[in-house]
Amino acid sequence: MNNNEDVRALAEEIAQLKKERDAVILAHYYARPEVQAVADILGDSLALSQLAATTEAKVIVFCGVHFMAETAAIISPEKKVLIPVENAGCSLAESVTAAGLATWRKYHPNGLIVSYVNTSAAVKAETDYCVTSANALKVIETLPLDVPILFGPDKNLGEYINLKTGRNMDLWQGDCYVHRHITGELIREYLERYPNADILIHPESVACGDKSILEHPRCFVGSTSGILKHPAQSEKKQFVVATEKEAITELVHQYPHLEFIPITREHYCEYMKLTTLTDLRDALRDEKHVVTIAPEVRERALLPIQRMLAVK
Ligand code: 13P
Ligand code: SF4
Repeated sequence: MNNNEDVRALAEEIAQLKKERDAVILAHYYARPEVQAVADILGDSLALSQLAATTEAKVIVFCGVHFMAETAAIISPEKKVLIPVENAGCSLAESVTAAGLATWRKYHPNGLIVSYVNTSAAVKAETDYCVTSANALKVIETLPLDVPILFGPDKNLGEYINLKTGRNMDLWQGDCYVHRHITGELIREYLERYPNADILIHPESVACGDKSILEHPRCFVGSTSGILKHPAQSEKKQFVVATEKEAITELVHQYPHLEFIPITREHYCEYMKLTTLTDLRDALRDEKHVVTIAPEVRERALLPIQRMLAVK
């Protein structure tokens, strides 16, 4: 059997198992392209959380990283949530602990803790509001100005919000090991190298704490879904993609006539790439690995997610 036949046979097996299990396959845009191809729903962190809340399928198979599957399990406790690779983690989610947040709260009893959705269920349980990169600005703008805020764990997204809103939130000092390589210097180098291109920058990037980048007319800052919408609103034919390289799979799919240049070909999210078609098939076939969350943690973690989903 050659590789194409392998992929086709696995995709057929997955389609059959999916029907038998009444399952829906969710995948993030950073997943392997062949996994994206068999997903029912592709999305960024916000879209996937929203879909986990509304799907009617009995089983959700999450082709992404652990915090995403946990979020789905918090939102939809009546569903079986499966993660094909149990140890698909996230450097950012692992940088913050519930105990750390509890310490900050002790010193700021009237403060609010705002956590990026890239966090464990235990951290969400200590959180007042969750955000994703797609709605962080909107959610923060709903919060009172005179209340101290701890924003975490992504310091780059936090700095970006501070710059855009004029707030002075305390920032947890975590970052994403992929986006930490996307610096202001790197963006300036690409602006020079590609004078006709727009640069599409994810706000987890270090560059988003640099005002001159935010104000540059050819720099666009947006979540994965924002980045995917931008080319439709631009007259440019060439785009430098300053985020995880796999986002280009969907960009090319939506805009086959445009050119997309990855800024970080060598920096990609190895956690997102752990899930293969074989892992996905095995997860459906053997109904593994079921994501479980202690009820007392789930109950407390649900509130900040619901508050986030309520912000339209
Ligand atoms: P978004 O899906 O919100 O763009 O975040 C990207 C990411 O790093 C997911 O882990
Ligand atoms: Fe985590 Fe970064 Fe990978 Fe997203 S890209 S899952 S933030 S390590």
